[in-house]
Amino acid sequence: MLPIDFLPDDRYGHCMMISLQQVSKEFKIRRGLLARETQTVRALSTVDLDIGAGEVMGLVGESGSGKSTLARIVMGLYQCDSGHFSFGNLDSRTMRRADWQRLRGDLGVVFQDPASSMNPWMSVEEIVAEPLIIRKKALGLTKSARRNRAVEMLEATGLSSAHLGKKIHEFSGGQRQRIAIARALILKPSFLILDEPISALDVSIQAQILNLLVDLRKQYGFAALFITHDLSIVSWFSDRVAVMYLGRIVETGTADEIFEKSRHPYTAALAHSKLDMDYSKREFYTLPGEIPSPVNQPPGCPFAPRCDRVLPECTKRFPEKTVVGAQSFHCFNPLVA
Ligand SMILES: Nc1ncnc2c1ncn2[C@@H]1O[C@H](COP(=O)(O)OP(=O)(O)OP(=O)(O)O)[C@@H](O)[C@H]1O
Ligand code: SF4
Ligand SMILES: [Mg+2]
Repeated sequence: MLPIDFLPDDRYGHCMMISLQQVSKEFKIRRGLLARETQTVRALSTVDLDIGAGEVMGLVGESGSGKSTLARIVMGLYQCDSGHFSFGNLDSRTMRRADWQRLRGDLGVVFQDPASSMNPWMSVEEIVAEPLIIRKKALGLTKSARRNRAVEMLEATGLSSAHLGKKIHEFSGGQRQRIAIARALILKPSFLILDEPISALDVSIQAQILNLLVDLRKQYGFAALFITHDLSIVSWFSDRVAVMYLGRIVETGTADEIFEKSRHPYTAALAHSKLDMDYSKREFYTLPGEIPSPVNQPPGCPFAPRCDRVLPECTKRFPEKTVVGAQSFHCFNPLVA
């Protein structure tokens, strides 16, 4: 366990940890001869999402549905075009530089390919302790205290002090991901962003890393946004799941609710595909029908071109949110009344 001074405090209150309100994000891309033509990619459209303190929210959706863009907004790497988000009592509309720094210190991030964010010349000790080094003045830790913390985190993730002096190329994919998790947790963040943390690993290693995350969550009590393509494992680690489709969150609820009692036709199709999924490949099943382009999207429900329950109003406007107990969805013609 980390020393007592690293235990969670009251910085953000005990209410909703993260709340996105009507967040939209577009990218302008240049195409055509001499890049004269400008097209708009709508990556996120009026996204609402709440994640409670200590809660793990799974985020699933096909490639290009906007999962990483949402994560990057929360990390402060992208600004919303409209809408806003809050992190405890910090509000993105009024946050100053110091607030962003504070937020980043309380956010741990793990990506699919850990090596891409690690300097190959740095030792494991330097990599894991890097967040402490960046905040050296504020934390006032000596080099040996930083080393002790790095060792604690390596041990918590199944590695040891024997790995401190090694370089990243000396490790397997699973061990690299353990190092990435150790680094992400060293500041004892109250929130983790896990963007496809196990997708690049062998199936046998995936289960080990997932079990490690489950154990670490019990130990450290962090909340998390868990982005995954793999529907079969999302319920393993998530308390609730949000389903994204072309920049929209179309349904949220517990994994059991949304996959066994889907109200949105897209979630129902995913739940059905989950049964047919090729577990040897564990790839996200691609539904039949053409996925509309995120470029210059027409109005209405983005699932309309693939939906067998489509009504005339579906192509006119996006449905409002309907809340039933802990489940919410956006659909004019849901499956369960
Ligand atoms: N920096 C960027 N510039 C232009 N378009 C972008 C940029 N980042 C993302 N996009 C586009 O925004 C949309 C959402 O992308 P995003 O990476 O968020 O999807 P994703 O759900 O994370 O996909 P994947 O599962 O493949 O990681 C896609 O159409 C993508 O091409
Ligand atoms: S709103 Fe209409 S098109 Fe969209 S999922 Fe529901 S029924 Fe299908
Ligand atoms: Mg992504």
